[in-house]
Amino acid sequence: MKCVDDFRLKFGKQELVPIMIGGMGVDISTAELALEAARLGGVGHISDAMIKTVADRRFNTKFVKNKLQQYKFNVANSDKSVVQFNLGEVAEATRMHVASTMEAKRGNGLIFVNCMEKLTMNAPKETLRVRLQAALDAGIDGITLAAGLHLGSFALIEDHPRFRDAKLGIIVSSLRALQLFLRKTARTNRLPDYVVVEGPLAGGHLGFGMDWAQYDLATIVAEIRDWLRAEQLDIPLIPAGGIFTGSDAVSFLENGAAAVQVATRFTVARECGLPADVQQEYFKASEDQIEVNQVSPTGYPMRMLSNSPAIGSGIRPNCEAYGYLLDANGSCSYITAYNREVAAHPGVKRVSVKDKTCLCTHMRNFDCWTCGHYTYRLKDTTHRLDDGSYQQLTAEHIFHDYQYSTDNRIALPARATG
Ligand SMILES: Cc1cc2nc3c(=O)[nH]c(=O)nc-3n(C[C@H](O)[C@H](O)[C@H](O)COP(=O)(O)O)c2cc1C
Repeated sequence: MKCVDDFRLKFGKQELVPIMIGGMGVDISTAELALEAARLGGVGHISDAMIKTVADRRFNTKFVKNKLQQYKFNVANSDKSVVQFNLGEVAEATRMHVASTMEAKRGNGLIFVNCMEKLTMNAPKETLRVRLQAALDAGIDGITLAAGLHLGSFALIEDHPRFRDAKLGIIVSSLRALQLFLRKTARTNRLPDYVVVEGPLAGGHLGFGMDWAQYDLATIVAEIRDWLRAEQLDIPLIPAGGIFTGSDAVSFLENGAAAVQVATRFTVARECGLPADVQQEYFKASEDQIEVNQVSPTGYPMRMLSNSPAIGSGIRPNCEAYGYLLDANGSCSYITAYNREVAAHPGVKRVSVKDKTCLCTHMRNFDCWTCGHYTYRLKDTTHRLDDGSYQQLTAEHIFHDYQYSTDNRIALPARATG
């Protein structure tokens, strides 16, 4: 009976444990979590989502406060086009986050940054270029291009000295998306070093429509694998989404995957950025509480717990402080939805907005409980304590459980004492 440890992810001469912890935005996949994956010989991700907020928390900088100060005059204005990011500060915050993480790295593994194209930041191309370049400047091992087709992203960094030495990968949910990416980036004469194939059971935003349930990860992976073989392209494939046990991972590795990307199991790790009380909500969740909805202003369906405080909240848009989802024209569908509700309920102090959410604010406050489909199984991965709460795990325990378990078993942690 094979286990994950019988396989290795190979990047050139480098061999890694084939477990990649996926990026989880706005510091849910913290530096501490990514560092554990690297120390244990796998791949960890940090994320550059809402990088200024993350830098403020980690380094006591005042990026958010200063931006709000600068644009305070615009708070009541529904036109947010003046609210621009200072590119120098985006670069500085990114460099701080990446460099301090890389300096702390121990062990043989790698640390990548998850970079979502849908964070359009009121100037999509310029801000993305700065984010990618700053991460490379600061010594990141690799970049995973996420939440978008990224048709122009390689071109944004092709002149960077590390363009050919850093590992660059992309997340796709279909063969078509991969084909398009390869066609549009062919001119840069560089293939991705890996492709994460994310299926419909993943956490965060989904690369599917509301018909996500009709798709199946193994089928998509097989289709992409067969096409790559036919084209004689040797690119490591890394399936993601609903891989809950070591045995789930082995079945993909035996079918030609180079590694697996996992996230949900790690949302209840001590090193994860979710506050402990929110982690208890993840543990407690029942299957009928896991929903895919359309409240994200990105336009992508998103999976989350149905009791997330973000759902139905009608807070005033916070773009002067954040503004990560403003499109190239300074618009965000939450602003439109919020204004509609305010106009429909004159005199009401706190409106409720049901169709969209202010994702920046709620992700920043850990009030949007995005999660993978199998979150309802997390309670089976630990002990229920005498007070009714669930015992938090360590990233090392979860990583080793993926690495060594067989027979679909999940090893429980040593019971906490005291
Ligand atoms: C809490 C949470 C947040 C996530 N945030 C992001 C993100 O910011 N960017 C991204 O590309 N994927 C994100 N994902 C997807 C994961 O990186 C990963 O590919 C996927 O969840 C793997 O499936 P699993 O959770 O079933 O293991 C997130 C997943 C979770 C559970």
